[in-house]
Amino acid sequence: MQLWGWNLSLIALFSILVTDTKANTIAGISSEHWDALNTTVNGRLSVSIPFSKPCFSSFEGQPVQPDQSACSAIQKNYTDAVTRVNDFSAYMISQWETCQSTGEGCLLDSNKPTNPLAYQNVDCRRGNVATYYIEVQSSDDVRAAFEFSRRTGIRLSVKNHGHDYKGRSSGKDTLSLWLRSLDSISYNSVFVPSGCSSDTKYSAITYGGGALLQDVYEFADQHNVTFIGGYHQTIGSGWFLGGGHSILSPNFGLGVDRVVQIKVITPNGHLQVANECQNTDLFWALRGGGGSAFGVVMESTHRVEPQLALQAAIIKFPGNISNLADWYNLTIQNSLRWGQNGWGGHIAGPSIIHVTPRLGAQEAREDMQEAIDFAIAQGGSGVIDTLPSWNAFFAKYVLSAQAAVGPEVMLGTRLISTSLFETEIGRQTLAQTIKNTLPFASPYIVVGTPFLFNYTKGTTSVTPAWRNSLWHLSVKGQFNFNSTLEERKFQYSEVARHIQAFRDITPGSGAYFNEGDVYEPNHEESFWGSDNYARLLEVKRKYDPDNLLTCWQCVGWSGPEDPLYQCYIK
Ligand SMILES: Cc1cc2nc3c(=O)[nH]c(=O)nc-3n(C[C@H](O)[C@H](O)[C@H](O)COP(=O)(O)OP(=O)(O)OC[C@H]3O[C@@H](n4cnc5c(N)ncnc54)[C@H](O)[C@@H]3O)c2cc1C
Ligand SMILES: *[C@@H]1O[C@H](CO)[C@@H](O)[C@H](O)[C@H]1NC(C)=O
Ligand SMILES: *[C@@H]1O[C@H](CO)[C@@H](O)[C@H](O)[C@H]1NC(C)=O
Ligand SMILES: *[C@@H]1O[C@H](CO)[C@@H](O)[C@H](O)[C@H]1NC(C)=O
Ligand SMILES: *[C@@H]1O[C@H](CO)[C@@H](O)[C@H](O)[C@H]1NC(C)=O
Ligand SMILES: *[C@@H]1O[C@H](CO)[C@@H](O)[C@H](O)[C@H]1NC(C)=O
Ligand SMILES: *[C@@H]1O[C@H](CO)[C@@H](O)[C@H](O)[C@H]1NC(C)=O
Ligand SMILES: *[C@@H]1O[C@H](CO)[C@@H](O)[C@H](O)[C@H]1NC(C)=O
Repeated sequence: MQLWGWNLSLIALFSILVTDTKANTIAGISSEHWDALNTTVNGRLSVSIPFSKPCFSSFEGQPVQPDQSACSAIQKNYTDAVTRVNDFSAYMISQWETCQSTGEGCLLDSNKPTNPLAYQNVDCRRGNVATYYIEVQSSDDVRAAFEFSRRTGIRLSVKNHGHDYKGRSSGKDTLSLWLRSLDSISYNSVFVPSGCSSDTKYSAITYGGGALLQDVYEFADQHNVTFIGGYHQTIGSGWFLGGGHSILSPNFGLGVDRVVQIKVITPNGHLQVANECQNTDLFWALRGGGGSAFGVVMESTHRVEPQLALQAAIIKFPGNISNLADWYNLTIQNSLRWGQNGWGGHIAGPSIIHVTPRLGAQEAREDMQEAIDFAIAQGGSGVIDTLPSWNAFFAKYVLSAQAAVGPEVMLGTRLISTSLFETEIGRQTLAQTIKNTLPFASPYIVVGTPFLFNYTKGTTSVTPAWRNSLWHLSVKGQFNFNSTLEERKFQYSEVARHIQAFRDITPGSGAYFNEGDVYEPNHEESFWGSDNYARLLEVKRKYDPDNLLTCWQCVGWSGPEDPLYQCYIK
C-alpha cells in the first residue's frame, strides 16, 4: 500500500488535471500540476537551466543578460568532471545536452571554452536536457515521479552522474530524476544479504545510488579494503548496472560479478530488495540489464577485497602511424601471457598503464620488458612502480590519465575474443585490422574483461562474450560544438564503419552495453545475447508492465520512432 500512502495530494492533482484550462503549459501539462508535484516532493522540483547559459545573451529565443563571472567560472572548469557532476544540466559527453537532430543546444567549444564563436549571437537552448527534474532524496520522491508520469503521460528519465555515451540519461521534455544526492557510503565486514542465512556473508561496501566512485575508493582505503571499480573519479551506478569494467576485473570480476544486494524502487512504487536470496529474477536482470529499465536504484552493496599491493607498468612514447602499428602488434603478441599474469589496464595509442596484484616488482619488469624496450627505442619511457593500494595507484596515475569529459565524442566498441590471441593467424588478423584503423583513430583498449575470474554461470545478464574475451576495444569519433548535421552523421557513420571491421573478425562475440555504438546493430544480441535478452524482457514486463522507464537500446526499447528519441539522429 506504499503506493497510495500519499493519495490525498494525488487526488488533488488529478482533479486539477481534469478541470484546469490555463494557458501556462509544458508538454500540455499546466503549471498547477507541476506545482502540485513540487509540493509532493517537498519543493525539490526544479526547472533546468543549461550549464553554460551564463555565457549567452539569448535563451530559448529571448534576450537575457550574460553573467560574466559565472561564465568565466564555467569556462575554467568546462572539462572538470566534479563541476559537471554537480550541475543537473551538464553531461560528461556533451552532445547529449543537445538536440543532435536539430542542432539546438548550449555548448561551449570544449577545445577552447573561451572561444566567443560558441556563445556570441547564438541562442542557448535546452536541447535534450529535461525541462523539469527532482533532486531525489527519498523513495517517496521516486514514487511521486512514477505516479505523475502514469497520470499525465509525461515521460521520465533517470540521471545519475551523466557519464552515459548513449544518451540514456537525458531526454527532451522528460521529467528527470537526479540521483546525485544519494551519496551515503558504509562498510560492513560481515554483510548478510537480507533474507539469506547468516552463513552467507561478505566483506562489503554499501553506497547510495548517487555516490562518486572516487569517494568510494577513498572510503574503502580508510577501512583498509579495496573496492573494484572503474577508471574515472565520478562514474555513477550506471557503471555496474550495465556491466562495470575495472582494470582489476581480470582478477576480481566485473561490477555485476561483485554486487551482492540492490535496493530498487520498481515502477509499481515498491522498494524491492534484490539479492541471491530474494527477488532473484530482478537481481539477475540488474546485473547487466542496465539501470533505468527496471527501477531506480537507491542503494547497492558490493563485495570488497583486502588491501592490495599493485605493480604498475607506465609505458609511453611519441606515437606516429608507423610505430603505432608495430606497437599494437607487440601488445597483441604479449597479451595472452600478460592476461595469465593478472595484468589489466588500458592501451591508449602510444601508452600503456597496466597493473597486476599477482607479480613482484622484478617479475613485473621482466614481463613488460619488451614493451619498455620498444618505448625507449622510440624516444619514450617505461617504469614499473610498486603501489601499496588501489587508492594510491588511482590518485597517482588515474586522475591524470582518465578519459576527458566535455567534448562531443562517440564510441564504437567490441569485445575481442581470447581465441584470436591464441593462434598466429588470429594475432595477424587483429594486428592487420588495427593497422587499417589507424588513419582514422588509434583504438583505445581496455584490458578489463574478467579473464581470470572464476565465474558462476548464469549469475549475470551481460553478454556471455565478456567471459571469452581478453580486450574491450573502442574506436572513437568526435565533432565540434558548431558541427553541422552532416558532420555529425558522418562521424557516427565513420565510427560504425571502423568498428564493423572488428565485428567481422569476432563473429559471435558482443559489445559492452554502456560503451557501445549508439547505433549498435542487433543490439539485443550484442549487449546481452539472445537467451539473456528473452529473459530480461520477461523481467521487464513483470516489473514495468506500462513501460514507464525506457531508454535508447535499453531492455524493452520501443524503437527509434518513439518521440522520446526525437533528438537522436536517424
Ligand atoms: C569519462 C568516462 C569514463 C568511463 N570509465 C568507465 C570505466 O572505467 N569502466 C566502465 O565500465 N565504464 C566506464 N564508463 C562508462 C560508464 O560506465 C557509463 O557511462 C555509465 O552509464 C555511467 O553511469 P552514470 O550513472 O555515471 O551515468 P548516467 O549517464 O547518469 O546514467 C547511465 C544510465 O544508467 C542509469 N542509471 C544510473 N544510475 C541509476 C540508478 N541509480 N538507478 C537506475 N538507473 C540508473 C541511467 O538512467 C542511464 O540509463 C566511462 C564513461 C565516461 C564518460
Ligand atoms: C518548487 O518549490 C520550491 C520551494 O517552494 C521553489 O523554490 C521552486 O522554485 C519550485 N519549483 C518549481 C519548478 O516551481
Ligand atoms: C573548478 O573545479 C575545481 C575542482 O572541482 C574546484 O575546486 C574549483 O573551485 C572550480 N573553479 C571554479 C572557478 O569554479
Ligand atoms: C590492512 O590489510 C592488510 C591486508 O589484509 C593487513 O595486512 C594489514 O594489517 C591491515 N592494516 C590495518 C591497519 O588494519
Ligand atoms: C615515427 O617515430 C619514430 C620514433 O620517433 C621515428 O623514428 C620514425 O621515423 C617516425 N615515423 C614516421 C612515419 O613519422
Ligand atoms: C606483427 O609482428 C609479427 C612478428 O612478431 C610479424 O610477423 C607480423 O608481420 C606483424 N604484423 C603486422 C600487421 O604488422
Ligand atoms: C579460480 O579457480 C582456480 C581453481 O580453483 C584457482 O586456482 C584460481 O586461483 C581461481 N582464480 C581466481 C582469480 O580466484
Ligand atoms: C566552427 O568553428 C571553428 C572555429 O572555432 C571554425 O573554424 C569552423 O569553420 C566552424 N565550423 C562551422 C561548420 O561553422
